[in-house]
Amino acid sequence: MDPRLLEVAVAAAQAGSEVLLRTFGSDDLQVEQKARNDFVSRADRESESAIVDLILEAFPSHSILGEEGGVYAGSSGELEWVLDPLDGTSNFLRGVPYFCISVACRRGPDTLVGVVLDPLRGDLFTAVAGEGSRRNGEAIHVRPAAGLKGAFLATGFPFKAHPALDAYLEVFREVFLEAQAIRRCGAAALDLAYTAAGIFDGFFEFRLAPWDLAAGCLLVQEAGGVATDLDGGSEYLSTGNVLAGAPGVHRDLLAVMARHAGEARMDDLVPRSL
Ligand code: IPD
Ligand code: CA
Ligand code: CA
Repeated sequence: MDPRLLEVAVAAAQAGSEVLLRTFGSDDLQVEQKARNDFVSRADRESESAIVDLILEAFPSHSILGEEGGVYAGSSGELEWVLDPLDGTSNFLRGVPYFCISVACRRGPDTLVGVVLDPLRGDLFTAVAGEGSRRNGEAIHVRPAAGLKGAFLATGFPFKAHPALDAYLEVFREVFLEAQAIRRCGAAALDLAYTAAGIFDGFFEFRLAPWDLAAGCLLVQEAGGVATDLDGGSEYLSTGNVLAGAPGVHRDLLAVMARHAGEARMDDLVPRSL
């Protein structure tokens, strides 16, 4: 693999980070509503354009899939960058200090590199396929956990997928009664990075987008964890449904999903977003 992929992914995330640090707390964020409960601001747009410029300068023939419309069909047709210029927009807009940038590069279904950067803490999570995951340069690993009992978990509510709420609550009830605690922090890519670092033991959410998941899932997998769709398969980037965590926690989450929320039920309830 070209070692420049990781270098460029990190530089791109840092370019986005400069924008977010400059605009966090600004009263001129030009917020627009894209859909119910889904917002975009000047910070999202400027971060995305800084990231896209940096990637295309380094790799003009690559493709890009960016959340805020930065979509380019590169001439090489091989490598695609998948990016979220601001994951946790609602937190950012309300001044909650939990948001990040997520940048990944994939070849077909395989994510090659993934970077998640928390600008406020300067916390940089990187993963390279086959080479492990790091936090600020130090190797990270999921926390060994026997199972869901006593686990410290993160999740996201289906606030853009209301028809999935009953299925989600069935899952939540069962998981909640086993776990030590469940956090809903508001930035899926950072939740996954924290899972890779052993801060959370596991994470689950329904109907996310590829830019929320690509970098974070590679971080979890390369940290010794497991990240799958609701049936235990590898289709999470297209279904948007994810279970991730230490192997024992993932195994128990998968058993809960089998009782309440498999991919077939989710397809009946909510159309896929992409
Ligand atoms: C959102 C965050 C949130 C998750 C949502 C995502 P955005 O991303 O990751 O935690 O629950 O489903 O869409 O819109 O802030 O980039
Ligand atoms: Ca996101
Ligand atoms: Ca976003």
